[in-house]
Amino acid sequence: MKPLLKSLHGQVPDRPPIWLMRQAGRYLPEYRALRARAPNFIDFCLNPELAVEVTLQPVRRFGMDGAILFADILLVPHALGQTVSFVAGEGPRLEPIRDAAELAGLSDDKLPATLAPVMETVRGVRAALPPDVALIGFAGAPWTVATYMIEGKGRTEYENCRRMMWSEPALFRTLIDRLVDATASYLILQADAGAEVLKLFDSWAGAVPAPLFDMAVIQPTASIVRAVKARHPKIPIIGLPRGAGGHIARYARETGVDAVAIDHMTDLAAAAAALPKGVVAQGNLDPMLLMVGGAAMEAEARRTLDSMKGRPFVFNLGHGVLQHTPPEHVARLVDIVKGR
Ligand code: CP3
Repeated sequence: MKPLLKSLHGQVPDRPPIWLMRQAGRYLPEYRALRARAPNFIDFCLNPELAVEVTLQPVRRFGMDGAILFADILLVPHALGQTVSFVAGEGPRLEPIRDAAELAGLSDDKLPATLAPVMETVRGVRAALPPDVALIGFAGAPWTVATYMIEGKGRTEYENCRRMMWSEPALFRTLIDRLVDATASYLILQADAGAEVLKLFDSWAGAVPAPLFDMAVIQPTASIVRAVKARHPKIPIIGLPRGAGGHIARYARETGVDAVAIDHMTDLAAAAAALPKGVVAQGNLDPMLLMVGGAAMEAEARRTLDSMKGRPFVFNLGHGVLQHTPPEHVARLVDIVKGR
């Protein structure tokens, strides 16, 4: 069995597998060269030839144990008919959905056709991957995707989301329910096409008011896990409830995920010890430390490895690789984890 799959199934190989969130992207010169060929980021994600190549770049360069499908969490709102664009230097921009009429304008009729190129990418990557590397498909979790759909952009205080959750709970629930259905279908299509692991990115889980965490994060995630497992009972699912701190153990217990990605604000060993039996920990080096590199990174990487010895574990960052990370630091980190 592939090392990443072994760990996700609870085995403890000689060394933990490693892959990194956002391992493909602008910090790699070979990414920037291909990215220049498609001015529109959505078109880039929906171009199987380019997306296959970009998915493989970090695997080839660093020898990662996992390849994460090159795509974006905002392809789902795009496929539902929301206008999504990426403004250079500013991040994503969406035509916001804030009332029932705007929500009614979305439809999942065209989702399979719009996202068909992603499945072609999945098949292309699977055909090209080295035999010991596993392909990770992914989607954004409903809450995190909803924050972009409602706010119309990233890096906010989620004021429109929090207002809607409290003042119009039925409207908010309808949006989340539609995202649950769309996301489950999308992930099932990825698994049908050959994804061997699935990951749900709830990058802004930490922004949910505590009394609403169940409704916005746990229940929707549990519904997606249930729907995917009904079709693909054995496929491991990793959840990233980023910033969820005190909710992590309950998230692991109640969603049914097989592994939890621990962020760098959380103590890894303590979080791993609090997970229910059989749930695997992934994490959690600070992406800034990868950018800094050197002796500080080496020491922390070794401490992380020591702290997880004897447990099923997947080495990763606590969040995505930062844009100005020197690729040599990534190479060094992989060497350390691989015992070189
Ligand atoms: O290598 C990989 O991890 C696979 C590809 C991947 C991308 N986005 C490519 C991308 C993955 C897994 C994502 C997930 C994603 N996208 C998340 C969840 C993970 C996280 O980081 O929390 C989120 C919140 C998004 C939404 C998103 N996409 C934002 C906020 C941005 C702009 C931010 C920025 O860095 O400019 C994107 C664009 C994006 N997605 C880029 C890449 C490589 C940069 C776009 C470019 O090349 O111009």
